[in-house]
Amino acid sequence: MSRKDIHSYTGDAVITHLVLDLEVNFENRVLKGSAIYKIDPKNSDHIILDVNGPEILSVEVDNQPATYKLSEQDPILGMALTIPIHADSKSIKINYQTKPDASALQWLNPQQTAGNKHPFLFSQGQAILTRTWIPIQDSPGIRITYEATLRVPKDLMAVMSARNAQQKNPDGIYHFTMPQAVPAYLIALAVGDLNFKSTGPRSGVYAEPNMLEKAAWEFADTENMIAAAEKLYGPYAWDRYDLLVLPPSFPFGGMENPRLTFATPTVIAGDRSLVSLVAHELAHSWSGNLVTNANWNDFWINEGFTTYFERRIMENLYGREYTEMLASLAKEELKQNVLEIGPDHKDTRLHLDLLGRNPDDGMTSIAYEKGAFFLRMLEEKIGRPRFDIFLKTYFDQHAFQSMDVDKLVRYLKANLPIDSLKIDLDAWIYRPGIPEEIAEVNSDRFDNVVKAYNLMEAEQRWDTLMMADWSSHEWVHFIAQIPDSVQPAQLVKMDEAFHFSTSGNSEILATWFEKAILGGYSPTILSRIESFLIQVGRRKYLVPLYKAFKITGQIETARKIYAQARPNYHFVATSTIDQLLKE
Ligand code: BES
Ligand code: ZN
Repeated sequence: MSRKDIHSYTGDAVITHLVLDLEVNFENRVLKGSAIYKIDPKNSDHIILDVNGPEILSVEVDNQPATYKLSEQDPILGMALTIPIHADSKSIKINYQTKPDASALQWLNPQQTAGNKHPFLFSQGQAILTRTWIPIQDSPGIRITYEATLRVPKDLMAVMSARNAQQKNPDGIYHFTMPQAVPAYLIALAVGDLNFKSTGPRSGVYAEPNMLEKAAWEFADTENMIAAAEKLYGPYAWDRYDLLVLPPSFPFGGMENPRLTFATPTVIAGDRSLVSLVAHELAHSWSGNLVTNANWNDFWINEGFTTYFERRIMENLYGREYTEMLASLAKEELKQNVLEIGPDHKDTRLHLDLLGRNPDDGMTSIAYEKGAFFLRMLEEKIGRPRFDIFLKTYFDQHAFQSMDVDKLVRYLKANLPIDSLKIDLDAWIYRPGIPEEIAEVNSDRFDNVVKAYNLMEAEQRWDTLMMADWSSHEWVHFIAQIPDSVQPAQLVKMDEAFHFSTSGNSEILATWFEKAILGGYSPTILSRIESFLIQVGRRKYLVPLYKAFKITGQIETARKIYAQARPNYHFVATSTIDQLLKE
């Protein structure tokens, strides 16, 4: 058996096309129906699928009842479902139903949505959760096309990472086709009270009715982003690019499900200040969705390339000065993250070793920011024009294929003057920590922020005189200047002057609340922190806040809030925070 992906049981025989037919039952919180797969037996006498949760009701091979075997349950990988086949077998069919606690799926009651009237369901497949709702070969190195029929309650709309309707269908039956081959982690669905609004010739947004106008306004630049991305690295390969605004429990900022990015409502700040998230998920339409990491040890090949590409889109639309603020915040985050993990720790390498671990462990800013700064270093050494041609060709030549670190290093060496420019690929990819040659990020606007902070700190004079035209990024950087040793009385004054605790910007809120907890100001604004933690399920915001409670000896406060908030969180968030608040 040749298994290149340590997180999948898949052997030689592969699936090539999937036809799903599922009924979405909100009462029982189950999906029930069938999956038919076209297969390529590759001379094997059996085919193996990953299953983690779904109850297998029956199996057929070429329309004949068939036997099957389930392995023991591995706590991370789930089970191997092995089905005997022949060299000329064409298809298999599995009748199954999911478990109410399937990790990928979050079933929300009406109170957990924006509209309060209808339930909501969404899936989150990356990294290895699709197998909790579809028996599948759940490896990023295996691509399939798919079709699906979803049967949902009549007043709801279903959408998928596929060709979508733009209107509700009164019979509640939705058909989807996905003609471009995708890995299993990019198969996604959502069901809820959704409406659609166009934002451009090939873009639009799905959201609950009371969010739709705000969302469409926030994402008005989407077509400009697509155009900028195409100009950089070649044609958009997926026809439409739509966004879906999820309820606040969505555990991520965004998820690059093809044709339909899933996004947290916390990016809707009312001033378009957080749309780099759209640039990021859009960039995945090349890095990640066209050229896909072959396995999760090379997660950075998805995220590092995407973060670099995201900044290029942002620079194109909003200018270098603006984008350097984002890069500067990111570099700070990277430095902090490396300190936390340990500069010699193997998890600070780009190429990871996740054997026996959950691929989720690899989701640190190393993959994103060390990855992005690696590409930025290449760009600066090679020169932007030449590097852009290189990247465009890279995406073109590897479209709909997977990429691992060896193949990438060979490609880099074959197409760029790596040796003559003395570029130390090893240091970036295989060694821990941050290489010395990481780019300088210069931001005059951020220098001004630091000046303003220092001046006010020295004079103990907190007012908004110097901040007339600050963006939310400048405010975030301002808050970042506050030392953890700050006195609560100071935080009170700042809050009175700048109203951080009631900000409508989620980045400001999350950064401020962390300082408030660390600086001993949190008892005063506890109800605000509490309601943020109960409302919002975005893991990136939750973890630092619960951590801050923990390290300041307030774990009981954290546990009390968590007990209330936990029912609102997706599995991805609870699995992290359960761990954090355990000991
Ligand atoms: N693909 C990721 C989200 C992800 C990573 C899900 C690993 C599951 C496992 C997505 O593209 C992403 O990076 N989202 C970021 C936002 C982005 C602007 C950096 C997030 O959710 O914070
Ligand atoms: Zn990403």
